[in-house]
Order: sequence, then structure tokens, then C-alpha cells
Amino acid sequence: MKKLVVLSGAGMSQESGIRTFRDMGGLWEEYDVTEVATPQAWAKNPDLVNRFYNERRKQLLESEPNAGHYGLADLEKLFDVQIITQNIDDLHERAGSSKVLHLHGELKKARSSVDENLIYDIDGWELKIGDSCEKGSQLRPHIVWFGEAVPAIEEAMRIVQQADIFVVIGTSMNVYPAAGLINYVKRGTPIFLIDPNPVDVYVNFTFIQEKASKGVELLKEKLQKML
Ligand code: APR
Repeated sequence: MKKLVVLSGAGMSQESGIRTFRDMGGLWEEYDVTEVATPQAWAKNPDLVNRFYNERRKQLLESEPNAGHYGLADLEKLFDVQIITQNIDDLHERAGSSKVLHLHGELKKARSSVDENLIYDIDGWELKIGDSCEKGSQLRPHIVWFGEAVPAIEEAMRIVQQADIFVVIGTSMNVYPAAGLINYVKRGTPIFLIDPNPVDVYVNFTFIQEKASKGVELLKEKLQKML
């Protein structure tokens, strides 16, 4: 089977009711990144950071995958599909995608503040101050914050280099190193980009100017002609 590699972002989950970050009405219009999404913010006010992610976790538990997520899962019938997502939600997995690599962490998990290998599932939506790891440290959200390393980036680069087809869905391509992955696509590999808004990308690609749900449907039609 041909390798179909997908890089997804917040727009993928927008139709599931999860806000994006940089669009009109996006999260970063309402919240100050430096107060909720950096290690310094966590050191300064863990309660504020925890409340931010608890709210998001509560919303995720009330959200469902959309037709875009299901469409990608369905493409596994025709392709070896690997999803590389910047999203911390689990909607790709809940839609049935079997290979999902999270670059920026997972909202439903917490990790130790002293040992990043100690990762735990969060029961329900609330992570509390006082919840600790087996080494006694405060648990923190298992999220890659601004200024932190992206441990999965090398694995992602390797996957992208093997792509026979590369698809970008619902990301403004503003955040690195994730946005730089497109530069690891082998020359001559077909690239598709699905987004209702234009996105600055400096390679040749087929633009499907649609929301994820409709865009994935149109992508499927194009891909079937390439089989
Ligand atoms: N379908 C597809 N794309 C959409 C939809 C939709 N329904 N709605 C909006 N979009 C597009 C927007 O046009 C934009 O290009 O999704 C993109 C969202 O961009 P951002 O809000 O910048 O989100 P993303 O690129 O995922 O952010 C990257 O930044 O804030 C950090 O760590 C966070 O992973 C995140 C990273």
C-alpha cells in the first residue's frame, strides 16, 4: 500500500466544536500564551495553567470526531495512513485512525514534573494541584509548551521522508518545528493542502480550499484517481 502521511492542526477539529488558536475568536485571542502555555507560566501559576487545560479537557470529553476525522480513518482501506498531529485531542484515534503521532502532547494525559517518562492517563477532566507522580512530584499536563523541545519530531521527519502522498489539514503552518516537516517531503511527492483559508507554504501543492469535512471528501476522490 502507498504511504499517505497527514499533518493535521487545530482546524481539523474545528467542526467538532474545538476552537483553533489563531483564527478570529481563536484561543490565543482570549488567553495570553505566556500565562497558560509555557514552562514559566507553570512555575509561576500552576493553578491557572491547570484550570486552562481542565476546561479544554472537559470540552474534549463532550466533543465527537467529525466527518474529516472519519474520512481519514476510512482511507486506511486504500492507503497505509500515518497521521502526524499538532492536536492534543484524541479525535483521530476516536474516529478509528490506527497510526497517530502527537507532536504537541495529549490532553487526556499527565506527566511527572521530575521524570518526563512517567506519563499517566487522566481519569475524567480534572487534574488537581496535589495530584502527584510515583516519585512524589506534582503532575503537569502532558503538553509540549512553547519553548519546550518536541520529542517526537525526529520520528515525524522519518515518517514524512517515506511519504508517497503528503496532506496538510487545518494548520496555519506558523509553529515550528512542525511546520518545517513539509521540507522533508521527497521531491516530486504529491502534496495536498486542505484549509478554508489560504496558508503560506513555499512548495508546490494542490489547494483544496474547504473545511476539513468537505475537504477530506474531495481529497478521497482525487486520491482514488491516483490509485
Ligand atoms: N477545517 C480545516 N481547517 C480549518 C477549519 C476547518 N473547519 N477552520 C479553521 N481552519 C484552519 C485555519 O484557516 C488555520 O489555517 O486551521 C488553521 C488553524 O491554525 P492555528 O489556529 O494556528 O492552529 P495550528 O496551526 O494547529 O497551531 C499550531 O500552535 O498554539 C499552538 O501548540 C499549539 O498545536 C498548536 C500549534
